[in-house]
Amino acid sequence: MLVARMAPFTSTIFAEMSALALRTGAINLGQGFPDTDGPASLLADAAANVTGGVNQYPPGVGVPALRIAVAEHQMRFWGLAVDPEHVLVTTGATEAIAAAVLALSGPGDEVVTFQPYYDSYAATVALAGATLRAVQLRPPSFAFDPDELRAAFSPRTRLVLLNTPHNPTGAVFTREQLALVGELAAEHDAVVVTDEVYEHMVYDGAEHVPMATLPGMADRTLTISSAGKTFSVTGWKVGWVHGPPALVGAVRAVKQYLTYVSGAPFQPAIATALGLPGAFYRELAGDLARKRDLLVDGLRAAGFTVHPPRGTYFVVTDVAPLGFDDGAAFCRRLPELVGVAAVPVSVFCADPGLGRTLVRFAFCKRDEVLAEAVSRLAGLRART
Ligand SMILES: Cc1ncc(COP(=O)(O)O)c(C=O)c1O
Repeated sequence: MLVARMAPFTSTIFAEMSALALRTGAINLGQGFPDTDGPASLLADAAANVTGGVNQYPPGVGVPALRIAVAEHQMRFWGLAVDPEHVLVTTGATEAIAAAVLALSGPGDEVVTFQPYYDSYAATVALAGATLRAVQLRPPSFAFDPDELRAAFSPRTRLVLLNTPHNPTGAVFTREQLALVGELAAEHDAVVVTDEVYEHMVYDGAEHVPMATLPGMADRTLTISSAGKTFSVTGWKVGWVHGPPALVGAVRAVKQYLTYVSGAPFQPAIATALGLPGAFYRELAGDLARKRDLLVDGLRAAGFTVHPPRGTYFVVTDVAPLGFDDGAAFCRRLPELVGVAAVPVSVFCADPGLGRTLVRFAFCKRDEVLAEAVSRLAGLRART
């Protein structure tokens, strides 16, 4: 029954691995959701809104307070001048991505992105009927080859779908890398759609550089983020996109027929949370850096080759030193072997072979959960 263009996307590895984790009682480091709640004030504000009657359709573009708060956030953290009128609230970053791709590309058009990629990118481009051109990010640095990027562009390129900090590799694109992406986009008159949901999760002095801050790029960039990661409320699905009015208008045209609106009681609460003091944002990154180190050290001790991330809450490992030549087969066995679940990086790739022995673990979990996972993983070599 399913249309042919969606046939490759019938199941997600996350559902499979989460079900496996549940069945085996494994610690689930597969899917990227935190196991603690966001700031208490945010939860209290949302609860008060639910009981206080903020439960009907909000405005199609989002509640004014949140649009203003997003604009203020962009100025405060990145020095980006954003008019709240050019902010569109969406059902998570996922809807913003889907609406942008559906609004701006179609059959015959090409979308340049990087692989491995967040899995919704390929599915959304397929939904639009456009063609994906995915440039490889290879370990250990996960930097792209500039010539390969150049070669991915063509007269048919309509969009560049960028993600920094990058899931699953944990790479943080440098200013120079972004400048080349921007240069090529400008040369081909393409729009850059930049997914910055991990904007506040960078470590070791790495700098998150929003694409729209590069000279001339604000005019051709749609910037996307969401509350899910920053405030540990991945189930709320409130995101946003901003950019030049014509582009945001196009996204809005599609968005209104995907979901129309969502998250009425959450939107004003998130508006307030975006204004939390710097200490909140610093603690978020500091806590995650500590968790990363805990898991990275444990994975190394367990025998994995580890590629420590400079951003996001994921770490990519190589299972080859453990005697496995297929990350997917490894992930299917890991819960039963030691009681931990992870996801293979190959599912985020268009090219079979890329990331074949790579496996991704999430570290957005309580310290004691990570410590238990590390102690379980320590027994891995004995069982393989
Ligand atoms: C790169 C990236 N973009 C977007 C999302 C989804 O964001 P949201 O939950 O706001 O739709 C995720 C979630 O894992 C992600 O990793």
